[in-house]
Amino acid sequence: MSSQVIPGVDGHWIVRGIMPVISRLRLSRTDEGHVGSMDMWGTTVAVRTEETLRGVVITPDPSSGFGFVISGELEHNVLRLAFTNVGVDFRLTADRSSAEETRKHQDREPRPLPVPPLRDLPPDELVRRPPMGWNSWYGLRLTVDDLSVRRAADDLVRTGLSDAGYTYVTIDDGWQATRDSQGAMVPNRRFPDMVALGEHLHARGLKFGIYSSPGPATCADYAGSFGHEAQDARTYASWGVDFLKYDWCSAAALYPSETGMRGAYQRMGEALREAGRPIVFSLCQYGLFDVARWGRQAGGHLWRTGYDVEDTWASIAAIGFGDHADRGDGWNDLDMLQIGLGGLTLVEYRTQMSMWALLSAPLILSCDVGALTAEELEVLFNRDVIAIDQDPGGAAPVRRRLGAAEVWTKRLRDGVAVGILNPGDDPVEVEFTWSEIHVEDGGIIRDLWDRRVLSPSPTWSGTVDPHGCVLLHVAPPPE
Ligand code: GLA
Repeated sequence: MSSQVIPGVDGHWIVRGIMPVISRLRLSRTDEGHVGSMDMWGTTVAVRTEETLRGVVITPDPSSGFGFVISGELEHNVLRLAFTNVGVDFRLTADRSSAEETRKHQDREPRPLPVPPLRDLPPDELVRRPPMGWNSWYGLRLTVDDLSVRRAADDLVRTGLSDAGYTYVTIDDGWQATRDSQGAMVPNRRFPDMVALGEHLHARGLKFGIYSSPGPATCADYAGSFGHEAQDARTYASWGVDFLKYDWCSAAALYPSETGMRGAYQRMGEALREAGRPIVFSLCQYGLFDVARWGRQAGGHLWRTGYDVEDTWASIAAIGFGDHADRGDGWNDLDMLQIGLGGLTLVEYRTQMSMWALLSAPLILSCDVGALTAEELEVLFNRDVIAIDQDPGGAAPVRRRLGAAEVWTKRLRDGVAVGILNPGDDPVEVEFTWSEIHVEDGGIIRDLWDRRVLSPSPTWSGTVDPHGCVLLHVAPPPE
């Protein structure tokens, strides 16, 4: 038996797959130590490397903004890469190559599709209110399968949440396998029959949502819709899909401009309209290029305003208390409700629900619906809070700072919603007069979380818990 000398990790590596998250690596040893570069999401990132017993540890330069570390294990001439980014475990395989092959590989990478002339797709009435429902991502990530989606759907019905409005059931990333010989997208083994799954949802009065990307690969490295937009839209329609979340991901490498991005979304927006079934179009491009300004024109109904929310107070606070662009002719999607995922207190989850309602954001759960506690269900069921979210005017709240607290007022069809929020870590005493916050009193004032009617008074005063929110409904004064 001949023994093989395992060469070091220096050299050029090509990662398998069409445009995976990382496509190429160049590693070398110089006087300054082990350095290199990697092509990732279409940008080249400098890396530091450290050889280990079994391979290499690769650390992207901090200036790249990528905070993860990649471990590479060498097996003969194959480098197996593993890293975790935004909760997704990536496993990639790279083959040793030469500088020449690496250059050719780069030349073979998908080229952007021509940008269609930008136009204004005629508005439709498909989404009159911020969508409500459930999405698989935070609870299940890449373990999502047919059974877990059916279970979520059944739990929405059994708990009564579907009657309260939570009707969209969306399979996020991770359902795709590959394309068949005709180019049609085939689901992976975890989804044996999409038509039957759609029927299961529809039979329960629910809507069927699915996920893709304008790029060749999704954020978790599954196949995207690049170059197959019209075909994919028709496939979704044939499965009975009602909602598409379209996530930017690898498209960033192909269309690095506003026009390119708008064109890529418009291409799918047009395809959905021609697919023969009304499909809600949910743009997920993290709020780039002031999406609310043009999202509707591209056929979108709602659009994410930023990067992924996390189940931490810091994340909820950063999104909720951040700046919010005007919603345009659609709905600002602040990302999903974290309730039921376990990282926050009930007070904090209630605050997220309050802020999302005041900001007219989609209310999308992502937890195990069947495991929600009675208290959590009570938060989600609060019909008065839902009504604030679903108010047809979708008016942006006016926000006022009041010492350590913030008072938000949102004009509703039937009065005003007032949120008294405490972003801080200590309880705060708050007091204001109705005229100070430009709210006309005289009508019935209800505390929506405490579920009580307040006695008439020209002022409101009370203590707001740390990270808490008091939510009031002020009815118009009687005629
Ligand atoms: C991005 C999106 C998430 C989720 C994942 C799936 O991070 O913002 O909402 O869809 O991709 O890979």
